[in-house]
Amino acid sequence: MLPSLVIVLVLTTFTCGENPAIQVMLTNKGLQYGKHLGTGWIQDKLRNITLPDISGGIHISIFGTIHYTFTGVTIVQCDLPEPSVQFYTNVTGFKTSVSGLSIALTGEWRTHYGIIHDGGSFNLAIFNVDVTSAVELGKDADGRLNVTSASCTAEVGDVKIDFHGGASRIFQPFVKYFKGRIRGQIEDKICPTVEQYIGEFEHHLQATNVSFQVNQALAVDVPLTNLPFMAASSLSLGLKGEFYSTKSHADPPFKAQPFTLPEQPGYMLSLGLSEFTANSASYGYFSAGLLQALINDSMIPPSSPVHLNTTSMGPFIPQLPKLFPDLLMKLQVYAREAPVFSFQPGAVKLGFLGAVKAFAVQPNTTLTPLFKLNSDSAFSGKMWVDGGRLKGSVAMDNFTLTLAASEVGTFQTAALETLVKTGIKMGVLSKLNEKLAEGFVLPRMHYAQLVNSVLKVEEGFVAVWSDAVVWPTESGFN
Ligand SMILES: *[C@@H]1O[C@H](CO)[C@@H](O)[C@H](O)[C@H]1NC(C)=O
Ligand SMILES: *[C@@H]1O[C@H](CO)[C@@H](O)[C@H](O)[C@H]1NC(C)=O
Ligand SMILES: *[C@@H]1O[C@H](CO)[C@@H](O)[C@H](O)[C@H]1NC(C)=O
Ligand SMILES: *[C@@H]1O[C@H](CO)[C@@H](O)[C@H](O)[C@H]1NC(C)=O
Ligand SMILES: *[C@@H]1O[C@H](CO)[C@@H](O)[C@H](O)[C@H]1NC(C)=O
Ligand SMILES: *[C@@H]1O[C@H](CO)[C@@H](O)[C@H](O)[C@H]1NC(C)=O
Ligand SMILES: *[C@@H]1O[C@H](CO)[C@@H](O)[C@H](O)[C@H]1NC(C)=O
Ligand SMILES: *[C@@H]1O[C@H](CO)[C@@H](O)[C@H](O)[C@H]1NC(C)=O
Repeated sequence: MLPSLVIVLVLTTFTCGENPAIQVMLTNKGLQYGKHLGTGWIQDKLRNITLPDISGGIHISIFGTIHYTFTGVTIVQCDLPEPSVQFYTNVTGFKTSVSGLSIALTGEWRTHYGIIHDGGSFNLAIFNVDVTSAVELGKDADGRLNVTSASCTAEVGDVKIDFHGGASRIFQPFVKYFKGRIRGQIEDKICPTVEQYIGEFEHHLQATNVSFQVNQALAVDVPLTNLPFMAASSLSLGLKGEFYSTKSHADPPFKAQPFTLPEQPGYMLSLGLSEFTANSASYGYFSAGLLQALINDSMIPPSSPVHLNTTSMGPFIPQLPKLFPDLLMKLQVYAREAPVFSFQPGAVKLGFLGAVKAFAVQPNTTLTPLFKLNSDSAFSGKMWVDGGRLKGSVAMDNFTLTLAASEVGTFQTAALETLVKTGIKMGVLSKLNEKLAEGFVLPRMHYAQLVNSVLKVEEGFVAVWSDAVVWPTESGFN
């Protein structure tokens, strides 16, 4: 009984592992765009490769065995028909085939037959090459994407060889007897070459990081949480998407909830970002002690009718100017708990439980504690993408001030609450909304950019559907 219970527990922890907080989905449109880029890259690569030497021995009845070597084989022309690429559900990967590829090559030939050595140049045309390669995608122990060749078949339709120089005029008529062998040798070299490139790509993948430093305070973990998931017309990757404080390294006391990212075949990519990711960043800043600020009178706009001094506070806290006449004040504002984001259809909500400690600044700069207020606020925002920029707006839904402790006796907070609320709306939010209306350019890398992006806030996550433009780098897609 107990062993089977243990097995059930182990199985459930494996199958109900961590939920991904970030989901990335490649649609068939994206795959076809990737293929288009890849075709150009392969064509460039083919134009510039030096092929391995080919050597062997031919037995020709009247001569005996002639040993030959083809060296310095280079491609002079390559006619690469558009390959086909599709999601390959059999192995969770891609299947690529190209058919009717023709290549013209040139190189040097050498033969030796007993003590007779001979050599010259040759032109080689390879016709109707068909190659089908399937790659399988997986996840390694560290959560990196990995890729292996699942299958490869290659077939060469025909070859035509013209030899020049040396005694070529004598043996050219015999070419038809051994070209089948050469065709086979070329055929045998195609798949190992394809597999070598897949291996190189895997090597690049193994060098990618699954954790990134975001700024001095925060890092983000993005390993795969599950194996890549393949549907008939899309490939999905689930990433951990957890921010953490580089100082405390603590996991947040909440978990990512599952969500379903709707597929939009009209866009190349879909991206889903769960509220967990936003809340882990919030928790990271909070646990690093960064969600606090000191406010002094120089930060209050000079035009403000109220200033941070005990005299100016008189109308709100009558006893204050009597106890501490004519002193400047300082406020320490901090979060009591990590602010919580919640994503709801069409809106992002933020709850902020804060506190304000007020001090009087004595002439000898000593800070005398005065009182502590709890300030609880709720904001709601909208986000959208417009003209390649992420825009938004924020409004304050609720704000309350309550007296939590006081060294100067009790006082009413209602008037102060109205004052601070007005200050936040007029000062902070109006500036923030100006910035949000202007928007932020969507993140772009020096070789890729998102275009035609659409953003929608859904229950528990933000979805972005987008096309992309990629400029391949000289060294390929790495
Ligand atoms: C072609 O290959 C040669 C030698 O490998 C290299 O020096 C050259 O930069 C390559 N050219 C291109 C366009 O990749
Ligand atoms: C996928 O696997 C099935 C059964 O193993 C096989 O019949 C089918 O031909 C495979 N599909 C492709 C495209 O190879
Ligand atoms: C990925 O790596 C894991 C662990 O090393 C291995 O078991 C798996 O076969 C690999 N999968 C692919 C597709 O390379
Ligand atoms: C990967 O992480 C290591 C250590 O954190 C860093 O030195 C390296 O530059 C990173 N590589 C990339 C490609 O970001
Ligand atoms: C207020 O704080 C700022 C920044 O911390 C500082 O530069 C300024 O001198 C302070 N002003 C007063 C009056 O303490
Ligand atoms: C306190 O603020 C008032 C304006 O509200 C200003 O007139 C007064 O000079 C300030 N006092 C000190 C000590 O800064
Ligand atoms: C600064 O002044 C206050 C009030 O006058 C006094 O209580 C405190 O001891 C003084 N502190 C120092 C370090 O002189
Ligand atoms: C504002 O917050 C207070 C206390 O946090 C709560 O009692 C009140 O219902 C909230 N009002 C609105 C409109 O949400």
